[in-house]
Amino acid sequence: MLNIRIEKTTMPKRIPAKGEPLGFGHIFTDHMFIMNYDEGQGWHDARVVPYQNLSLDPSAMVFHYGQTMFEGLKAYKGADGEVYLFRPDMNAKRANTSNDRLCIPEIPEEDFVQAIKAVVDVDRAWIPEDEGTSLYIRPFVISTEPHLGVAPAKSYLFMVILSPSGAYYESGLAPVGIWIEDEYVRAVRGGIGFAKTGGNYAASLAAQVKAHDDGFAQVLWLDGVERKYIEEVGSMNIFFKISGKVVTPMLNGSILPGITRNSVLTLCKDWGYEVEERKVSVDELIEAAHTGALEEVFGTGTAAVISPVGKLRYMEEVFEIGGGKIGELTQRLYDEITGIQSGKLEDPRGWRQKV
Ligand code: COI
Repeated sequence: MLNIRIEKTTMPKRIPAKGEPLGFGHIFTDHMFIMNYDEGQGWHDARVVPYQNLSLDPSAMVFHYGQTMFEGLKAYKGADGEVYLFRPDMNAKRANTSNDRLCIPEIPEEDFVQAIKAVVDVDRAWIPEDEGTSLYIRPFVISTEPHLGVAPAKSYLFMVILSPSGAYYESGLAPVGIWIEDEYVRAVRGGIGFAKTGGNYAASLAAQVKAHDDGFAQVLWLDGVERKYIEEVGSMNIFFKISGKVVTPMLNGSILPGITRNSVLTLCKDWGYEVEERKVSVDELIEAAHTGALEEVFGTGTAAVISPVGKLRYMEEVFEIGGGKIGELTQRLYDEITGIQSGKLEDPRGWRQKV
């Protein structure tokens, strides 16, 4: 259990008004959580302080070798006025999976969740209440030791910042276009693809720019060895409904183990769908698109929630999915997950946690 010091701002910022467009990840609240790690001392000095710039030595190792971990989750204001988090224990576990891979010291799971709750509690007035909005929470660790040698750092910062946000994609719940990338790869097995760390996202940018230039919102990655099997999209996991079955690439070490992915698998099984986590080749997908067996495609992620995919582009071909409209299962999953998250629906699996 952390002993968290709380220092409130004396210069509160303007909280966006109801109905004001928020975008995603542009606006930050009045406070942040911060805690230090030093070798020999462990994690120490947990505090919630006014949101502020950091001062770091230019040789801080994070700037050079990218030893960093981040997470993403959301807080919602329920219809009952309470504030809820969605499965924060899963983020705490995944944070340590990433930490372990990156030689960052683990953060006790209960401390991770306590830190989030502490800062969300202080800034609870910032949680937006318009449909489709939430308070996006970004916990992250950076290595701070001033040293140019390549080695695990001896000092770190763990921080949590908060951003009142709307839909991740500008198009909201409207179906997005996805570009299946056949040149660049994002990750390989044995690498860091399963970890939530900056390098994976830096590796994705060149293809994303290419896709954007062609009018596609995101990139769908193929495996790094054969460039044959579907892996994930830049900011979400991917699902297909093929001849009535729900199919998603199995976790293979280079795919991010998404929390929304896990929730969707549970819901689909509970609703009686046949669900398959397995290798999905791009050839199988294209064949299913040609024959009409490919009924729905959607992405899942904390930021994106459930994001319908309306078209896929592979090599020079573009396939429209479901007439470019939101599929029935996609809509049902979106309604169920956002309903549970915001407290509008029952939560029989205990996924919601009160702050
Ligand atoms: C999230 O969905 O929370 C993520 O971390 C994806 C991010 C790249 C926006």
